[in-house]
Amino acid sequence: MSESLKIRLGEIADFVDVIRLEKAVFSDPWSQEAIFSELRADAMRLPLIAELGGTLCGYLMAWRVADQLHILNIATDPQYLRRGVGTALLLKAVRLAVEGGQSEVTLEVRESNFGARAFYRRHHFAEVGVRPGYYQDNKENAIIMTANCSDLLVD
Ligand SMILES: CC(C)(COP(=O)(O)OP(=O)(O)OC[C@H]1O[C@@H](n2cnc3c(N)ncnc32)[C@H](O)[C@@H]1OP(=O)(O)O)[C@@H](O)C(=O)NCCC(=O)NCCS
Repeated sequence: MSESLKIRLGEIADFVDVIRLEKAVFSDPWSQEAIFSELRADAMRLPLIAELGGTLCGYLMAWRVADQLHILNIATDPQYLRRGVGTALLLKAVRLAVEGGQSEVTLEVRESNFGARAFYRRHHFAEVGVRPGYYQDNKENAIIMTANCSDLLVD
């Protein structure tokens, strides 16, 4: 990418752009209320925005709870896939989590989401369990994935 990628904390002003991307990327997008509440960073909530030339090209939402960083949602604008946006968001979240004392990253991902599963495996996540019928819309299974923060930050 010719323009430099910037990762920063999300804020309410990002609401419209995040909603737009959420609807473009997910078949079962989060509600506007859920996104609104996650865009207020606090001791638990960690919203991150990726920007290229001032334009939002990805976001990540996570919770910091006890010793865990729990990834709730991550998306890259389809125009910018496979150019390092997801990696930059994930690694920034993990660096901030480590500063806050978290040591493990956890998440759930749809069983059929092979692209995201490959992305997480590339970042040293292991598939450690299944939540049967976890997703409300189609009762799809969730795959539980975990990684050590230190393993993600090695490369
Ligand atoms: C998952 C997602 C965020 C990855 O974002 P991205 O910006 O394309 O990721 P990166 O460019 O940082 O990818 C890093 C590496 O992960 C792996 N990877 C990423 N997407 C992959 C895919 N679709 N298939 C296989 N491997 C993939 C590759 O090893 C890639 O490196 P490479 O491009 O040099 O081969 C993006 O695919 C996305 O927004 N998907 C739709 C939303 C979604 O499913 N979110 C996850 C919900 S749990």
